[in-house]
Amino acid sequence: MAKKGRVFSGARPTGRQHLGNYLGAIKNYVALQDDFECVYCIVDVHALTTVETTQDLIQNTYDMALDWLAAGIRPEESIMFVQSHVPQVMELHTYLSMVTPLGKLTDLPTFKEKVRQNESNINYGLVGYPVLMTADIVLYNTDFVPVGVDQAPHLEFSRETVRSFNYRYGKAVLKEPLMKNTEIPKVLGIDGVQKMGKSLNNHIELASNAEETQKRVMQMVTDPQRLRRNDPGNPDVCNVFSMHKIFSTKEEVAQINSDCRTAGIGCVDCKKKYAANLNANLAPFRERRDDLGKNPTAVWDILHDGAGRARVIAEETMGAVRDALQLPK
Ligand code: TRP
Repeated sequence: MAKKGRVFSGARPTGRQHLGNYLGAIKNYVALQDDFECVYCIVDVHALTTVETTQDLIQNTYDMALDWLAAGIRPEESIMFVQSHVPQVMELHTYLSMVTPLGKLTDLPTFKEKVRQNESNINYGLVGYPVLMTADIVLYNTDFVPVGVDQAPHLEFSRETVRSFNYRYGKAVLKEPLMKNTEIPKVLGIDGVQKMGKSLNNHIELASNAEETQKRVMQMVTDPQRLRRNDPGNPDVCNVFSMHKIFSTKEEVAQINSDCRTAGIGCVDCKKKYAANLNANLAPFRERRDDLGKNPTAVWDILHDGAGRARVIAEETMGAVRDALQLPK
């Protein structure tokens, strides 16, 4: 079947993936493969902008790749690779930096946020983060970028940078990418307040076993107003209920909805049910992950093969870019 264009997305190597990563990105990556030619990149160079020590980079890259594959990324069809394995992206980043006003980068809300988080490490690479991201996208002649709202300013920046480049160098060399707006649910951590994240340790890892998962689920914060078993609850403000809506059947959701409001079901039982459904849902993933994990070399081979295919596209783009820049041959 003819595909409807090329999708590119990147994610920093954060190691073993959690439910927030799955519902917020991976699930969508998997689904997009049916209709689009997909290129998925583990952006290790972007990770260097904030990471102080690189000792976990290899392990985190491997763990993330393993989770992506187990979740259903199909490497024969899609290209899955490590950013630094295609160094042309660094070259393109440099050329794009010449049409990027510095003030535009320092004005970005994402940059200001990073500065707030780590005032002592505001490096040149961090300022250029969106330029490198633009290079990622346009190097592969991308049509669509599926990202959440938090990345919208970056994508707008990319589009403007492409326009500046094409305007300056007089040719429609680079393709202006479109943001693929996807309904990305905000997945809260087990604290029920903050976004799920590894650094907050409020996450549930996809790869943990059923017991660990159940333990984490039992720690989840529910409707804070519901203090006693006999108090009626409000599922609309309960994080466990939001998860039931994703992992339980329609009938179960309807039942819990009414039972919670009448105190027919307690939070403990409600969580046990969620844990059971979540575990059942993740079982095939965990089985595939165990299988793939028996042969780490095969996982690296997939990444290297992906990089090889990515380099072919990259070289094509770079040929056109170098010509447009009129660089000496
Ligand atoms: N900036 C993205 C993030 O922080 C990661 C990223 C790098 C990316 N390059 C990309 C996302 C290209 C989409 C397209 O999550």
